[in-house]
Amino acid sequence: MKRAILGSVYHTPVLGSFERLENALVVFDTETGLIDRVSTPEQPDYSAQIQHFENIFCLEKLKNGQYLLPGMIDLHIHAPQWPQAGKGLDLPLDQWLQTYTFPLESRYQDIEFAKSIYPRLVNTYLSHGTTTAVYFATVDVDASVYLAKECLKQGQRAFVGKVAMDEKSMCPDYYVDDDYQASIDLTEHFIQNVRALNGNDGLVEPIVTPRFVPTCSREAMKGLGDLAQKYQCAVQTHASESDWARDFSAKKYGKTDVELYQEAGLLGPRTLLAHSIFLTQNDLDIVKHHGSSLAHCPLSNIFFANAALPCRELLDNNIQLGLGSDVAASPYPSLFRSCFDAVTHSRARENGVDYHLSSEQRGTQDARITLLEAYWMATVGGAKSLQLNTGIIHPGRLFDAVCIDSTHEEFNIFPELDSAQDIFEKIIAYTDRNHIIKVWVNGQAVKQSI
Ligand code: GUN
Ligand code: FE
Repeated sequence: MKRAILGSVYHTPVLGSFERLENALVVFDTETGLIDRVSTPEQPDYSAQIQHFENIFCLEKLKNGQYLLPGMIDLHIHAPQWPQAGKGLDLPLDQWLQTYTFPLESRYQDIEFAKSIYPRLVNTYLSHGTTTAVYFATVDVDASVYLAKECLKQGQRAFVGKVAMDEKSMCPDYYVDDDYQASIDLTEHFIQNVRALNGNDGLVEPIVTPRFVPTCSREAMKGLGDLAQKYQCAVQTHASESDWARDFSAKKYGKTDVELYQEAGLLGPRTLLAHSIFLTQNDLDIVKHHGSSLAHCPLSNIFFANAALPCRELLDNNIQLGLGSDVAASPYPSLFRSCFDAVTHSRARENGVDYHLSSEQRGTQDARITLLEAYWMATVGGAKSLQLNTGIIHPGRLFDAVCIDSTHEEFNIFPELDSAQDIFEKIIAYTDRNHIIKVWVNGQAVKQSI
């Protein structure tokens, strides 16, 4: 069935700029999930189309100040860490994992525990406008399949990964795969299970998930690389996140994370490398060669990375980049928030932080990115990273979208003072779950508050 929305659209088809379509008629197909056409008032049959959809009661008119935007694509979320969001960021990464994270993640062996957390988590992300979520689940297969089912049930496009970790010296004995073969076999079992879920026609995809180099043996990584190729799965992992993580690989293998992942066959056009702060030029060449992507998690990096991502240079060098909220290394399950964090992250890098240094020595010239660029990463960049046919409101794209109501006082919009760009920037800066009145995924309304 075809449905139509009449209202104004904001999106960022081109990095660094935006497009606003006034009074656009967006027609989409609820069966295929695709946008059928986007008409604007100068088109000859515009009025007739509106009349048509009105007559068949399939027209939704947005009010003044409400806008249709592409949905957010969050490339990095640790689903089981949701109860930990907003606390426990007092330790460095390696200690944080051992002290807080692994004990919490191990609790998902109890499926009842998973059932008490995951529905709320998926609902929360959808409410924040995340139409595609890429989740690390846990080592446990049943709870990870349950998360995939929950995404399907709530209608969220998702990539869900059973976390593989088999390196006994780095994992607690209560939270580790039995051996490398178990990491591989359980991941294969998980892939088959998720693909076979009732009603799953590709909305929820399994994703191969070696946690990161310290917790994975080389044998496990190689076997997982083979699985990614055999099942044509996307891959997610962490790369060179902190001094400690970078040094770990250098000491143990004399190689970088990216070199190790390449060796294992884990790099492909749908591989997401979270953080990737300390990449060498050779690493970047490898990433580009394989068409893999980086998931930038700007607030998480403030706590764990020990350095800032050179986001400006990466964008300028056409390295594929998207954004991740990285709960619970950051407390906010919102990619709107991550957009703003990506900007402040880049500005801190540009300015530098040590006032003892002269301004020339303190920072990195021209390191800033703009809010529009961050929004592009959160939508178009994410879509490209996963080879998803979404990210903009355009005919032939999947209709994954949100409707924002910017008439709330918090948006601080003054129509006589604000340009179209000002309004869009305020929407990116201020949108919270309370302002998102409707969310569509694959042409289906999955969330509605009107
Ligand atoms: N590296 C390995 N595991 C994790 C995790 O759970 N969070 C973050 N931020 N980094 C990791
Ligand atoms: Fe992470």
